[in-house]
Amino acid sequence: MIAKSLLALAALTVTGAFAASPESRYVYVGSYGNNLSVFTANPESGNLTLVHQAESLAPSYLAFHPSNKYLYACNELNNTYSAFKLSKNGSLQFINKKDSLGEAPAHVGVHPSGKWLLGTSYNNGTFYTYPIGSDGSIGEANREVKDPAINGANLASLQGHDSPHAHQMIAAYNQSQVLGVDLGIDRINLFNIESDGTLSKSNIQPFININSGAGPRHGIFGKDGKFFYLITEEGNIVIVFKYDAKLGTYVFEQSVDTLPANFTKVSYGGEIRISPDWATLYVSNRVFGPNEGSITVYKINPTTGKLSWLQNIGSAGQYPRGLNIDPEGKFVYSGNQNSNTIGVFKVGSEGKLRLSATINHPSPSDFQFGPSH
Ligand SMILES: *[C@@H]1O[C@H](CO)[C@@H](O)[C@H](O)[C@H]1NC(C)=O
Ligand SMILES: *[C@@H]1O[C@H](CO)[C@@H](O)[C@H](O)[C@H]1NC(C)=O
Ligand SMILES: *[C@@H]1O[C@H](CO)[C@@H](O)[C@H](O)[C@H]1NC(C)=O
Ligand SMILES: *[C@@H]1O[C@H](CO)[C@@H](O)[C@H](O)[C@H]1NC(C)=O
Ligand SMILES: *[C@@H]1O[C@H](CO)[C@@H](O)[C@H](O)[C@H]1NC(C)=O
Ligand SMILES: *[C@@H]1O[C@H](CO)[C@@H](O)[C@H](O)[C@H]1NC(C)=O
Ligand SMILES: *[C@@H]1O[C@H](CO)[C@@H](O)[C@H](O)[C@H]1NC(C)=O
Repeated sequence: MIAKSLLALAALTVTGAFAASPESRYVYVGSYGNNLSVFTANPESGNLTLVHQAESLAPSYLAFHPSNKYLYACNELNNTYSAFKLSKNGSLQFINKKDSLGEAPAHVGVHPSGKWLLGTSYNNGTFYTYPIGSDGSIGEANREVKDPAINGANLASLQGHDSPHAHQMIAAYNQSQVLGVDLGIDRINLFNIESDGTLSKSNIQPFININSGAGPRHGIFGKDGKFFYLITEEGNIVIVFKYDAKLGTYVFEQSVDTLPANFTKVSYGGEIRISPDWATLYVSNRVFGPNEGSITVYKINPTTGKLSWLQNIGSAGQYPRGLNIDPEGKFVYSGNQNSNTIGVFKVGSEGKLRLSATINHPSPSDFQFGPSH
């Protein structure tokens, strides 16, 4: 059945009948299962149809190479990073994999230059880069920064605050700067990245301290890199910073709740994404109860960067670790890890969401969208 739809799709690509239509875009889904899945999206409903699965152990987070030729996954439970070549027919060709420098690589990023894979190991609290070859392959990781400081030692009773836990490394809007988000010590490290991939601490502002116990998790830059938005895993807040790209400094602007005031159950912040028109910000709230996971939608003030609450909507399942919006800004997908469901939401006026479809997929955790072709 899968092979048949692949053939049909390949035929359409050859005749060009669907050229540049949203149907010819692939949606790549990472998970804690044994496969990296490739779907096509229905242009009306956003609903997904499976076209290919590549074997990969717990490819929990995904990142594209800027050339759009290669896709990278962190194999979080297998302590490796994997590289795949993309094909016109949606299949993924495995290129190679490399061990992570530490356990539980929870995130993967690609530097916008296309030269470096950005790695983090949660358990060991390490940040490191791998060179990317001209064929997309991952080279030897040779640049490692481990943060020895533990300013959260008094918080060891809180989950994840016993030692440094690197959760994400992302390229800043200024490409010579990189952020290393450390959940364990409630800190964002600010690094410079050299042309050989070396990371060094910024000496202007070496780090940003985050509220004790809040657990910084993932961040994202707003339009033109003027503002930086951070979701915390345990604080259930989004923090907004004003960013100075020349100096590489961040100044606190605002902190907003991710949950309605009357929501009292335990919830862990999941993912944070911004719409392609830069007007709306989405976060996921991971709750363990069935159908209690949610997505909170904020409007972004284009001048001040500040957020205002628009909506909180069920994520169509349990524990929505993953969340992403397609490049046209028409659909939002939630990856409900514990209910094995993907929620498909239509984006309406002001960026508000309406559930459009729910599909089954083992422990979905991240979404990336291929280029239209
Ligand atoms: C979405 O697609 C799946 C198959 O991938 C199908 O089973 C389901 O009925 C569709 N849902 C809607 C609302 O179209
Ligand atoms: C992984 O993909 C293969 C090939 O499509 C499929 O046979 C297998 O059932 C998938 N495994 C899971 C856990 O979905
Ligand atoms: C990763 O997967 C390989 C191949 O299945 C296996 O040999 C290895 O033991 C795994 N490593 C871990 C840490 O699970
Ligand atoms: C898809 O494309 C790849 C790479 O060109 C090729 O190896 C594979 O056989 C193709 N699969 C199908 C079903 O056409
Ligand atoms: C990661 O931490 C474990 C447990 O402390 C240790 O055994 C291992 O050597 C560390 N790995 C690296 C690459 O430092
Ligand atoms: C980028 O940051 C570096 C210092 O890290 C600075 O020298 C340079 O001017 C910045 N570039 C821009 C365009 O702001
Ligand atoms: C919280 O308040 C909203 C709006 O008044 C209501 O719809 C919702 O059911 C309440 N939720 C809980 C958990 O009490």
